[in-house]
Amino acid sequence: NVLILDFGSQYTQLIARRVRELNIYSEIKPYNNPPKDLSSYKAVILSGSPHSVRGENPPHPDLSEIKGKKPLLGVCYGAQYLAHFNGGEVGQSNTREYGRANLSMVKEGEPFLEGVSSDSQVWMSHSDTIKKLPEGAIRIASTHDVENAGYKIEGEDTYAIQFHPEVYHSTDGKKILENFLVKIAGVAQTWTPDAFVETTVAALKSKIGDDRVILGLSGGVDSTVAATLLHKAIGENLHCIFVNNGLLRKNEYTDVLKQYEGLGLNVKGVDASARFLDALEGESDPEAKRKAIGRVFVEVFDDESKLVENATWLAQGTIYPDVIESVSATGGPSATIKSHHNVGGLPDYMKLKVVEPLRMIFKDEVRRVGASIGLSAELLGRHPFPGPGLAIRILGDITPEKVRILQEVDHIFINGLREWGLYDSVWQAGAMLLPVNSVGVMGDERTYEKCVALRAVESTDGMTADWVHLPYEFMQKVSNDIINKVKGVNRVVYDISSKPPATIEWE
Ligand code: XMP
Repeated sequence: NVLILDFGSQYTQLIARRVRELNIYSEIKPYNNPPKDLSSYKAVILSGSPHSVRGENPPHPDLSEIKGKKPLLGVCYGAQYLAHFNGGEVGQSNTREYGRANLSMVKEGEPFLEGVSSDSQVWMSHSDTIKKLPEGAIRIASTHDVENAGYKIEGEDTYAIQFHPEVYHSTDGKKILENFLVKIAGVAQTWTPDAFVETTVAALKSKIGDDRVILGLSGGVDSTVAATLLHKAIGENLHCIFVNNGLLRKNEYTDVLKQYEGLGLNVKGVDASARFLDALEGESDPEAKRKAIGRVFVEVFDDESKLVENATWLAQGTIYPDVIESVSATGGPSATIKSHHNVGGLPDYMKLKVVEPLRMIFKDEVRRVGASIGLSAELLGRHPFPGPGLAIRILGDITPEKVRILQEVDHIFINGLREWGLYDSVWQAGAMLLPVNSVGVMGDERTYEKCVALRAVESTDGMTADWVHLPYEFMQKVSNDIINKVKGVNRVVYDISSKPPATIEWE
């Protein structure tokens, strides 16, 4: 088990991914709230950061239980931090140090850099530089512009590198992480989906015992995998509830209930559409809409949990990007992008404890886990769909008529992707109903109707995404079908923004 202390870098999640690609389990914890018990961690990595060690109140956690006692790797800010606070000197760098660079010196015979070529490409992203190494340090790598690109502390398993080994553009980055974690720290490479299932099921069994658990199913990959893991662990004590919030895709409620019949799960469908739509009436602010949906969701769960006698746990299919994008709400160092309603806990009066078996893993890893427990490729291949559903794809306020329009548009788009064999090459797709009317002409009549934006993205984890170059013939067909068949829409546009700087959903 590897601990990654997060100083707020945009690349911290990538460190976790790279480590897991080595089949090693890792956990990210905010630097200002590190775990109290460090005994289970075999190695520690310090992330980069938007902060400067020379700024006011730089992140400065106490590493006395780590440095010199456990294998430690500082990356970028982490490297500067280890220098600045141990007798070295960090100053502003004279040359720009962003992007591609090449090593010009790699210390021979250094196990940490074994297999790294002497001119290996590395990725830099910093404005400070290490001018003087800390006490006891030996330089192990340089680039043309950065003399102290890598160093180690003699007599300790402490290493530091100015560049980012976690980005794909650092050609030997994964090798360096492997050298550090496997060769130096001796961490076992045993994190596979099968091992994850085994340890998670065992952990759920001992955590939950004979208690009853309720779980909100959404029909999506995450909650289905979470439910299946729990079912393996506690069997009939798992009570699944599938809530129709009135913001699902067309026919989704009945289709999904049918799909679960075959899985042996104990599922109850609850149609609460009217409650959700009432709560959303007149609400047009994205965060207010999410909060209203979150509130009603909790109320519906509260009502339902009372019907399950002695339910003491609420299980959720929260995955890692949900946690990280909402993390500042819980005191972490990165910024809140969107407050995903399914993160952030429950009101005290519910007295349910929360269990989230997928909290530390990414979507593609959830799919690998799902495959290893035998879920069908069709189910695992379903596109992600946000908890607040169409509410965050109808920009502005929500009415039943707008929901109907968007359901029809979405249905044509998604069915079209399936019919044209494009569905599986797209990571996520959907339609947005825009709060603008525009002028059109249909059968010699002037129209003044709604515009919809189609969005299809490719991604591996939802953290970054790019728009998909769908074939023009396909877009032409879908656009025609939408305008001809969906009353109230006279214009279709396609979203060609990547994430970042845009997000996948428009709200
Ligand atoms: P964004 O829009 O932040 O979305 O690029 C990234 C992924 O998260 C989904 N998403 C949500 N999921 N509750 C959810 O359960 C939410 O409030 C929410 N907002 C976005 C989005 O569909 C995409 O897969």
